[in-house]
Amino acid sequence: MKALVLAGGTGSRLRPITHTGAKQLVPVANKPVLFYGIEMLVDAGVTDIGVIVGDTADEIRAALGDGGGFGAKITYIPQDRPLGLAHAVLVARDYLAEDDFVMYLGDNFILGGIQDLIHNFRTERPDAGILLTRVENPSAYGVAELDARGHVVRLVEKPTNPASDLAVVGVYLFTPAVHEAVRAITPSARGELEISDALQWLVDQEFRVRSTMINSYWKDTGSVSEMLEANRAVLELLEPRVDGTVDAESQIIGRVRIEHGAVVSRSRIVGPAVIGAGARVTASYIGPSTSVGADCVIDASEIEFSIVLAGSTIEGVGRIEASLIGRDARVGRADHLSRTHRLVLGDHSEVQITP
Ligand code: TTP
Repeated sequence: MKALVLAGGTGSRLRPITHTGAKQLVPVANKPVLFYGIEMLVDAGVTDIGVIVGDTADEIRAALGDGGGFGAKITYIPQDRPLGLAHAVLVARDYLAEDDFVMYLGDNFILGGIQDLIHNFRTERPDAGILLTRVENPSAYGVAELDARGHVVRLVEKPTNPASDLAVVGVYLFTPAVHEAVRAITPSARGELEISDALQWLVDQEFRVRSTMINSYWKDTGSVSEMLEANRAVLELLEPRVDGTVDAESQIIGRVRIEHGAVVSRSRIVGPAVIGAGARVTASYIGPSTSVGADCVIDASEIEFSIVLAGSTIEGVGRIEASLIGRDARVGRADHLSRTHRLVLGDHSEVQITP
């Protein structure tokens, strides 16, 4: 069995972060979200991995290399334009050949592995297998309708009136039957070849599409709130560890990992939290569910439930919360007396200021 990992796409919901980088490389507990997926595939014994890449191909290649570091063999498959998940299957036709494969969306996050799923698929070998989970807002997802036996009868992408609360999780299992399906379908109203349409085509042609309920934690990390939530969930499982330096005036409470070369002084860190390698935290408060990236400087500030990417500086700022701060960003105090805000923001940035 091979894997097809989708690491192209537009990432419009994560702008401006995705103006300069791939969303699949945004870190969750200081590790790119994509790495969790690759590791999970390797753990499940799938090591022949095709990675779909788009505009951010160079960055993805630099991060994953030939896959050797993960115990995998990676083949890169360029997709000229993000024309949909089913289009990604179309461009991977030669790589996939006549093998069964697991398709994995590179921005999806699953805790707990997919060994059982792959094992069951191999044993029963339906024509396609999908994973489902109950969600509160099905209209935001691909939604499945099942018959009394639990077999998939209908799949609709982001329905206005969802027939169930069963959302399709970003891990799919396919036999080569899917290749005929992705060739048969036409682009949707949003101009994409939808994987839900390919699955519906399989159902309509009486191929067996089976579903499994996922009982472990799953998140699509396509938006900022989802990214923060995935970060929170992973930090809950963090092994506390101090590889950096903490002075006697600092307090470290709960699950906290301080990475190599990080220096914490006169600060209070309430976990779960991670402080990246080479970061400096001085006279600050770092609260729960926070990941501070490598080489960041946090000085006389307070931050919680946030992700700060590598090389950023936060100085003299009151409580920052529920924030995603990109690489090499600077957040500081205005150095004049009038109560004004001075902003230099990238395109599609979002700032909320307390008056
Ligand atoms: P999505 O999150 O559905 O799409 P997107 O990346 O375009 O994001 P947004 O809606 O915010 O603009 O994609 C799921 C995963 O599949 C993600 O890792 C990107 C990847 N992908 C491709 O590789 N090729 C594609 O054509 C599409 C649509 C997505």
